[in-house]
Amino acid sequence: MQFIDLITQKNRIRAGLMQRLEAIVDHGQYIMGPEVLELEKQLADYVGTKHCVSCSSGTDALLMPLMAKGVGPGDAVLTTPFTFVATAEVISLVGATPVFVDVLPGTFNIDPALVAPAVQQARAKGLNPKALIPVDLFGLPADYERLEKVAAEQGLWILEDAAQGFGGTLNGRRAGSFGLVGATSFFPAKPLGCYGDGGAVFTNDDELDRVLRSVRVHGQGDGDDKYYNVRIGINGRLDSMQAAVLIEKLAIFDDELVERQRVADAYSVRLKDRLEVPGTPVGYTSSWAQYSVLASSTAERETIMGALQKDGIPSVIYYRIPLHLQKAYLGLGYAKGDFPVSEDFSARVFSLPMHPYLKEEEIDRICSVILSA
Ligand SMILES: Cc1ncc(COP(=O)(O)O)c(C=O)c1O
Repeated sequence: MQFIDLITQKNRIRAGLMQRLEAIVDHGQYIMGPEVLELEKQLADYVGTKHCVSCSSGTDALLMPLMAKGVGPGDAVLTTPFTFVATAEVISLVGATPVFVDVLPGTFNIDPALVAPAVQQARAKGLNPKALIPVDLFGLPADYERLEKVAAEQGLWILEDAAQGFGGTLNGRRAGSFGLVGATSFFPAKPLGCYGDGGAVFTNDDELDRVLRSVRVHGQGDGDDKYYNVRIGINGRLDSMQAAVLIEKLAIFDDELVERQRVADAYSVRLKDRLEVPGTPVGYTSSWAQYSVLASSTAERETIMGALQKDGIPSVIYYRIPLHLQKAYLGLGYAKGDFPVSEDFSARVFSLPMHPYLKEEEIDRICSVILSA
């Protein structure tokens, strides 16, 4: 059994995709070709923002807005320690300081009530809090209604990490559209993934869009001279073949989201009396990047994951070590006990196979192994 089945999906899109790839081989615009512009337009329409700037990974999609806004040494950027390392890594890469804020029990996402105290703590340390990066973990958008309010009160701008959330919604607004700017990843295992690395940034802000496009290509100026550089940037371009893959997959994405919801519902009905299953609060939909559950203890998690493995069923722990306890971040001075909810989740969480093509009989088999473990 696959944790994520990309082969069945590939068979579904293969014919159309091969035509597009052949066209690229023949037209020869391998970097920033017409497919990239077509994709950016489709993605902006889908997410509901004025602009979409595609780029070479989700990590670059998070990095580019920080660079474009001039975040740097002495600045603090707030985020959660219960996320993939890239969310905090980009803060460090621009020379700013990550300030962690614990997550809210029941959602895996940042707790809006803890943002203001974290801002005060950062100021007390002589840092200048600039931005907030909420993460739409496992596919569920963070609580942007409260976060946008608290960010405005605290003078922070929001960079949404929608690497896992792309496809999720909150009161009809799509993930990627929250805050000043949103970032997503097209890593193959993501709900919308390409066949390599890729990402995109979304914003309604014209000036930010202009600067992001410059940052994406080594800080080049607006004129025709591509060797005239006006700021420090990166090589963050998406290539035409990845754009073609994404165009084909976007066409079936809404249908796949329905199937992901079917799988999540089927798991939750069967497992809710044995494990803490993920909730979807009123007004939200999840893209179900992962279906993640909480065991009652680390020992129970080991027992269940062991039973699954014995039966040839893959399961994965996202994330075993919260970022404040990672070796790379010991220098920030945090200690065990600083973020109790994240630490508790890290000790008990694990994720089950999740993709749109998971069959009922496979779900039954996974659940019966768990229930009898
Ligand atoms: C929450 C989160 N942020 C950022 C990233 C980085 O994306 P990428 O792997 O495309 O650089 C990922 C993906 O792995 C992620 O899950």
